[in-house]
Amino acid sequence: MDDDAKLIEFEAKIKRGEKIEPKDWMPERYRKQLIRMMSQHAHSEIVGMLPEGNWITRAPTLRRKMGLIAKVQDEAGHGLYLYSATETLGIGRDEMVDQLLEGKAKYSNIFNYPSLTWADMGVIGWFVDGAAIVNQTMLARSSYGPYSRAMLRICAEENFHKKQGYEIAATLALGTQAQKEMVQNAVDRYWWPSLMMFGPSDKDSPNTPLLMKWKIKRKSNDDLRQRFIDLTIPQAQRIDLTIPDPDLKLNKKTGHWEFGKINWDEFYEVIRGNGPCNKERMTARRKAHFDGEWVRIAAEEYAKKRKTNHSNNN
Ligand code: 3HC
Repeated sequence: MDDDAKLIEFEAKIKRGEKIEPKDWMPERYRKQLIRMMSQHAHSEIVGMLPEGNWITRAPTLRRKMGLIAKVQDEAGHGLYLYSATETLGIGRDEMVDQLLEGKAKYSNIFNYPSLTWADMGVIGWFVDGAAIVNQTMLARSSYGPYSRAMLRICAEENFHKKQGYEIAATLALGTQAQKEMVQNAVDRYWWPSLMMFGPSDKDSPNTPLLMKWKIKRKSNDDLRQRFIDLTIPQAQRIDLTIPDPDLKLNKKTGHWEFGKINWDEFYEVIRGNGPCNKERMTARRKAHFDGEWVRIAAEEYAKKRKTNHSNNN
């Protein structure tokens, strides 16, 4: 079969709802888009450990500390799982990590904001993991088998993260005046950057058309953002917190919440590396990579030794 015939078969397979697997033929652009998106996703999980890791030693109770440690550890697992899934596309983990550390790869905008108070742990779980679930539930139906299967497993854990975040936020919202102010302040700081997590508006999203054509993505950035808003506003109302958007209005005809203007200049500044914490995040990742070098060397040596022993025994 020539490439044109292979492409027709590839697209027919996607149309029939079958998954594309690593050894199947795929167009180079499909492979490249997946590597871009999945490696960015993996980096986001790993960098995403930093704002919350920052609060482990300051969690207010043992129960809260255990929950937070488990959540941060889950994010590490998601990152490793996603790096492995991306490796099935023919790129090595070292290369992906180098791209991140050299500042060539993106990761989610949201992790470039500071986590200033304990309430941020609640609001990050509620908003950030909530947004991730909306996006990832859709990606669990992605056309690429390893990515969609990774998402199924990851979404189950993100659900726990969201619930623990909402429970922290609700506890503070129903607490003392000072606790309520603290959580409202976290909502005020995290609301807009969380909406930006879904990426630019559809009209300004260069990758969406191809990603949707090949069912890597099944819903557009704006559709997912709207779903997140519709789900989250009643949750905020239930615990008497105010979403910082004076233009929010329920459209009774459509059943959707209309919302104000997103500051896209801020979004692009952050993803270009100029957000409040970009430099701090990358410095922390580079240090962790440098400090962990001896572990990588030891693991490689151990693997070599085992291989030699194995061939000597045969
Ligand atoms: N943060 C940083 N960069 C972003 C972004 C964001 N929130 N949204 C879009 N961008 C970048 C894109 O990567 C693209 O840049 P590139 O072409 O250089 O790669 C550019 O902005 C234009 O955006 P597009 O809309 O064309 O990009 P996509 O169609 O890929 O959509 C996306 C962006 C919605 C983030 C999509 O890539 C996606 O769904 N990715 C997988 C999910 C993911 O990465 N999630 C990270 C969230 S955090 C997380 O999951 C951790 C959890 O523990 C909370």
